[in-house]
Amino acid sequence: MKYRFPLALAALIASFFGVIFVLQAFERPPVHSTQNGFRGTGMLQVANPRSEAALWARNQVPPAPEAASTDGDPASSIYENVPLLGHLSIEQFGRIMQAMTEWVSPEAGCNGCHVEGDFASNANYRKQVARRMIEMVRHVNSGWASHVQQTGVTCYTCHRGRQVPEQVWSAAPEQGARGMAASPRMQNRGEPSVGLTSLPHDPFTHYLSGAENIRLQSPAALASTAPHSVQNAESVYGLMMSISGALGVNCTFCHNTRAFSAWNESHGPRLTAWHGIRMVRDLNNTYVGPLRDILPAERRGPMGDALQVNCATCHQGVNRPLFGAAMLRDYPELAAPAAR
Ligand code: HEC
Ligand code: HEC
Ligand code: HEC
Ligand code: HEC
Repeated sequence: MKYRFPLALAALIASFFGVIFVLQAFERPPVHSTQNGFRGTGMLQVANPRSEAALWARNQVPPAPEAASTDGDPASSIYENVPLLGHLSIEQFGRIMQAMTEWVSPEAGCNGCHVEGDFASNANYRKQVARRMIEMVRHVNSGWASHVQQTGVTCYTCHRGRQVPEQVWSAAPEQGARGMAASPRMQNRGEPSVGLTSLPHDPFTHYLSGAENIRLQSPAALASTAPHSVQNAESVYGLMMSISGALGVNCTFCHNTRAFSAWNESHGPRLTAWHGIRMVRDLNNTYVGPLRDILPAERRGPMGDALQVNCATCHQGVNRPLFGAAMLRDYPELAAPAAR
């Protein structure tokens, strides 16, 4: 009799934590899995229709305005400072200004990039950034078909109505922590960039701005000169977690986990991803990184670098950005640099 109450209390406490554990650790059904490898290889994609519906709703493309006529005088005949878009017809020029406003600066409007009352002025730094962005987008669409195919990208792919895309990264500052938690590769903080794991949360500086090798499996057993350290392995895993999160897929979307490095056992998307890694390095080094010199301090990261691109900047949780909508088709001005 004496022990009854504590036992009941213990059972109550145990079931309370039990319920919390179940709610935290498991996803509410239904959860579906589809097999995309050979039977028995465990190459599955796991999805939940509830989160898929929300993702679908978040990734709709705004309807394109009617195509503009290419007839008439070029824009350069009436505007004075148009090195990039001056070859367009006046109508096309107006249409692309409207579209860019909707994609990048719907709240601030034209003045997001322009000095009020003086469209030709370069004094707004955002206009200078926008010029570089136009060149970057054309470069992606004409030079990186190995990654973006004919689908291509527009400003909307990254910006989605925001002045700065939601998903960007910058170099992580030196960590204040000491002892076990301190690490030159910035880890043990459970950041969302690496799926809340303790892996190094800035794999981007090394792999998506720098061009460190994304390798960790040694070609020889017990190699005494093993080129790959544990830190290296953790950073590669950190990057891979970020890639999986960016695309909303499991590791098995690309790899056979029996042999991560083996290309002959990998899926096709791994090759697309390989090109994607090279493309992102190119964008960060050639276009976005150098913008640090014209960006105001509040637009830069804690280490003073520009906010840069990773896979999530375009993909935003979907294996083909905007579910593969071929938006570029409606904006030929952004397809390739004008032949002049
Ligand atoms: C995202 C930035 C951005 C937004 C928003 C924007 N523009 Fe522009 N605008 C530019 C850039 C960049 C140029 C220069 C294009 C070039 O180099 O060929 C430009 C040039 C112009 C010019 C040419 C001025 C001259 O004489 O040289 C006009 C006119 C213009 N924009 C009108 C507009 C209007 C109207 C809006 C709003 C509907 C708008 N812009 C919104 C970036 C922007
Ligand atoms: C691959 C992704 C990507 C695409 C595509 C892209 N941008 Fe950007 N954009 C960025 C990133 C990243 C930044 C943040 C850089 C920074 O300012 O630190 C940025 C910043 C900007 C800014 C400065 C915003 C601010 O307030 O500081 C402007 C303006 C801009 N982009 C215009 C454009 C226009 C116009 C296009 C289409 C021609 C475009 N972008 C396409 C990634 C992209
Ligand atoms: C979208 C495709 C994709 C996904 C998803 C992906 N990877 Fe990778 N992975 C790659 C590519 C591409 C490389 C090779 C990169 C290179 O060589 O530049 C790679 C390389 C690796 C390597 C190094 C192999 C070696 O040769 O040493 C490991 C380990 C790895 N991935 C593990 C993972 C893990 C774990 C996950 C899930 C958390 C994952 N990957 C998710 C594309 C992917
Ligand atoms: C500039 C925007 C952009 C960036 C940044 C980007 N991608 Fe992509 N990616 C695309 C587009 C657009 C497609 C769709 C191409 C198509 O229609 O087949 C795509 C397709 C893919 C696919 C093929 C998916 C499938 O279902 O076949 C993979 C895998 C992929 N990207 C991986 C990556 C990885 C990994 C990164 C970062 C290293 C990355 N992407 C960065 C724009 C981008």
